[in-house]
Amino acid sequence: MVTVTPSKGFQPVLERIAEEIGRTPGHGRPADYIPALAACDPRRFGMAVAEPDGTVYGVGDWRQPFSAQSVTKVFTLALDLAREGDALWEHVGREPSGNPFNSLVQLEYENGIPRNPFINAGALVVTDRLHTRTGDAAGELIAFLRAESGNPGLTFDREVAASEAAHGDRNAALAHFMASYGNIDNPVPVLLDQYVRQCSVAASCADLALATGFLARHGVRADGTRLLSRSQAKQVNAVMLTCGTYDAAGEFAYRVGLPGKSGVGGGIIAVVPGRCTLCVWGPGLDERGNSVSGVAALDRFTTLTGLSVF
Ligand code: DON
Repeated sequence: MVTVTPSKGFQPVLERIAEEIGRTPGHGRPADYIPALAACDPRRFGMAVAEPDGTVYGVGDWRQPFSAQSVTKVFTLALDLAREGDALWEHVGREPSGNPFNSLVQLEYENGIPRNPFINAGALVVTDRLHTRTGDAAGELIAFLRAESGNPGLTFDREVAASEAAHGDRNAALAHFMASYGNIDNPVPVLLDQYVRQCSVAASCADLALATGFLARHGVRADGTRLLSRSQAKQVNAVMLTCGTYDAAGEFAYRVGLPGKSGVGGGIIAVVPGRCTLCVWGPGLDERGNSVSGVAALDRFTTLTGLSVF
């Protein structure tokens, strides 16, 4: 466990960033392919930083729950990796895809093995494997998030899950296609139900910054028990850096310089290993599905603090 330097903490830098972001509000558009997300106000903005000892700083809408969506893919990856270890990598790769998060094109060339665990195809494989091992992948996820955030009220948003389920043809196509290669164990409808529930988790910046803490603590959970080996925590951080923001991962690494994972609800989590974890929320997305104000805020954070992996 890394020693946290007592100081005024991150509050002043967060307030400065929120003030800067507030000068140009409302860039980008909320996701509309999941209708329940389309009504989000793109001017909302929240940001939280959690230190490894659980101290949290926040600004703006940092306590407001929002739809975590693909941010949850980090947690299901960690939960499955903790159980099956390297065997997982026979079923999903760890290379950037350079394609949109819901793309089908590489799957046929690559025999139903998705490029990485953060594109939808890869996340479906991870959730499928976690479900086989636990009997309740979404339940494992929510229990983990509640424990790490210290928020027992954290839960699924049934409306968002139903909305995505009703518009889930593309994920269904991905899952059926991979099943045809033998890379999905569970019946596809069971897997899709688990997956949309996983994506529908409603959590705040404070919740998600805290829940990501195990990646700053090199694999150690909030209660001091170990989820991942130090090496596995490094691997998850590395895959976040190279694949966490999809076909914008190069630009994200260039601007922010941290492992990060975005979701179409407008959230992004990021890790400064050994030092802190962050979560930022702004529902306006760019054309690649990443929060415009979220990337801008993380860019300012690493610039102002000098905290980056580079
Ligand atoms: O499966 C989907 O399309 C959504 N539930 C999650 C996608 C997502 O968050 C991509 N992230 N930027």
